[in-house]
Amino acid sequence: MALSSPLQNLSALISASGNATTATARPPRGRPWAVHAASSDTTTAAQAQLGRYEEGKLERPKWVGETPLSRLVQALISFKPLFSVLKLGARRALISTAEKNNIPWRKMAQEILESEVYRELESIQNQSLVYPDYYLNPFHAYEEGNLTWLAAAEAEAATMSMARRALPDASSIQEANQILRGNWLHAIEQHHMQYSESCVIDDILDIGCSVGISTRYLADKFPTAKVTGLDLSPYFLAVAQHKEKRAMPRKFPIKWIHANGEDTGLPSKSFDLVSIAFVLHECPTRVIVNLVREAFRLLRPGGTLALTDFSLKSKVLQELSPVLFTLVKSTEPFLDEYYLTDMDETLREAGFVNITSILTDPRHVTITATVPQ
Ligand SMILES: C[S@@+](CC[C@H](N)C(=O)[O-])C[C@H]1O[C@@H](n2cnc3c(N)ncnc32)[C@H](O)[C@@H]1O
Repeated sequence: MALSSPLQNLSALISASGNATTATARPPRGRPWAVHAASSDTTTAAQAQLGRYEEGKLERPKWVGETPLSRLVQALISFKPLFSVLKLGARRALISTAEKNNIPWRKMAQEILESEVYRELESIQNQSLVYPDYYLNPFHAYEEGNLTWLAAAEAEAATMSMARRALPDASSIQEANQILRGNWLHAIEQHHMQYSESCVIDDILDIGCSVGISTRYLADKFPTAKVTGLDLSPYFLAVAQHKEKRAMPRKFPIKWIHANGEDTGLPSKSFDLVSIAFVLHECPTRVIVNLVREAFRLLRPGGTLALTDFSLKSKVLQELSPVLFTLVKSTEPFLDEYYLTDMDETLREAGFVNITSILTDPRHVTITATVPQ
């Protein structure tokens, strides 16, 4: 088969170069949202490279938008027989690369699938929720997108792989996670301290919380806050609740809500921090705009919005090999729309101020913004 050779090389290609190091700067102390003991390592690693990851020379990668290269990739993906091969190849490559990197993908998924996770579904699922059309597309090589137990069971391993890909030079998967999440949390904390010091973070909403990884990082970082994770997939939320029930109890247990982040039904001005982490690249532009507007409605004056996702400017992503970006695009139906959305403009139009962008790892940008006081 003509494609087998590049696909076989995929594992090597997935480990594209990065440049993270660790250092020992001290996190700020004595804030109401002061760093929780369990997360201090994370913040320490965070401060090493923050703001120093390399940008490419282009406005955005050549493989998105209306460039000839992007059109060629799109034509390849649109050819159904090839698309199926690509999707399958992408999935196989992801799993084998993860396992080579000490992420026991299949074992982790099996543990979830053989657990009592199914019991959580009933208490979490909002039966009257109408899913938006875009959400019913295949995602990440799952025919039914995020609406399956398999996608939910594999989500944590997939998230670990994403951190590993972003930081291939980290000494371990744990370190890669700590740097990626630590830099993101540090950027949020710095932004809030700079622009809203008098606004204590009491209530946090994590839109698109998936299986709760970002939600737990937020809850660990801001242990005095009440944290809510919200997602469209009841299967992901069931895994989140199942895992959280087996973790150390918290003063304020995390709340999980099955809802659409575009229209949450939650009261206006009820949060001090809204996070949308690694969600927007899965959404069409109109949904990105709706999510940002809903976040603005939900935040109190002085509240902070934190978006993190692929960076247009990332040198590593701009220089991604053709095999790799073709595979990525074959499993991410809205990547082009995400890359073509002017995020600063979207935030400004929604009413946000103090819009700040920073590369928090070689591949991802964290954009923070404030609701005017
Ligand atoms: C890649 S995952 C997010 C990962 C997670 N935030 C983290 O940082 O580990 C993207 C999530 O966004 C969710 N999602 C997509 N559109 C959404 C919407 N309109 N409302 C709520 N969740 C949404 C998906 O179900 C999926 O769980």
